Amino acid sequence: MAIAMTPTLPGSDYCSPAIFDLDCERILHRQWFYAGRAERLGHVGDRLLVDVGGESILIVRDADGELHAHYNVCRHRGSQLCDASGSGFGAAITCPYHAWSYSLDGRLVATPRVGKDELDRDQFPLRSVAVEDWQGFLFVNLDDDPPSVRDWIADQDPYALAYERLEMDRLRIGHRSSCEVAANWKILIENYAECLHCPQVHPELVNIIPLHKQGDVIDWTRTDGGTWLAEGADSFSLDGTAPLPVISTMTPQDANSYQASGLYPNLFLDITGTCVMATQLTPMGPDHTHVEIEYLFDADAVAADDFDPSAVVDFSELVLSQDNEVCERTQRGVSSRSFDHGYFAEKDSLCVEFTERYLADRGPAPV
Ligand code: FES
Ligand SMILES: [Fe+2]
Repeated sequence: MAIAMTPTLPGSDYCSPAIFDLDCERILHRQWFYAGRAERLGHVGDRLLVDVGGESILIVRDADGELHAHYNVCRHRGSQLCDASGSGFGAAITCPYHAWSYSLDGRLVATPRVGKDELDRDQFPLRSVAVEDWQGFLFVNLDDDPPSVRDWIADQDPYALAYERLEMDRLRIGHRSSCEVAANWKILIENYAECLHCPQVHPELVNIIPLHKQGDVIDWTRTDGGTWLAEGADSFSLDGTAPLPVISTMTPQDANSYQASGLYPNLFLDITGTCVMATQLTPMGPDHTHVEIEYLFDADAVAADDFDPSAVVDFSELVLSQDNEVCERTQRGVSSRSFDHGYFAEKDSLCVEFTERYLADRGPAPV
């Protein structure tokens, strides 16, 4: 019997600068884009910078607790305003070039050596974009009229809104890591969406997620999208345990489960009993993706003197490095003139869903 497998995207969709430009314009500049955890803006003047398809966006929180996101571009002569995320900048955004200053909500408030009669400051606020906080995760959207983040999440993952029961806004960052991956962002998403590779690439991971031993990602015996961890396990670690408390809002079933959500285009949420991992993809070019992981734990656990997330962090970084290696290997392969496209197998069904959504959003490639 002839079996029809679904073709992947063609090689050029992973390698071409023109397609990357289209990805930025049609997808990264129109979808909600994960920027980082809200706690990173704990104080007035804290700054969170995020690269959204080549556009530098600056997120701040004002004295009333309101979030604001602005293009990181001065209205005077276009200098970039801010170089890095961080703390201690105070309540004004001052341009390093001629020292024009903006309030955190984006109003132009000072123009040294340029008189008030020379320009109407009200006409030169920073250009702002939408920003929303969902469960302590901050998203920005460059589109003029985006849907709410909750509607956008509901549209792409039927299970993700149910994670609100975990009150993830109460979690705190216990560790952060980052790395550069020489692969297209879509290759990272496809790799995340399938587990055919797991028995071969992740021998340690399949020990704690039995379903993955068969290369499956979906447990059809469950109705909540979750997967069982090995008996007695509640953590991503070599033996499935860690010296960390189970997140206080979790049921025993949550604690013994692996629950995941890929929020296209740039956030992976991986939830186990003791830790929620937020993996942020920042597409930097056709063959370059910056990856940042925030490891979230119960606030009390992070505050404890003996807090030690190393069992979870070391294991997760091992799995990440295994994934990155095969993604970079794939990027090199799909760059070959011999590669027209590959194929998705039956167990790659989530990759097919991703590809269909991607193509619907992006539209046809330029001839
Ligand atoms: S470019 Fe920013 S103050 Fe001149
Ligand atoms: Fe993997």
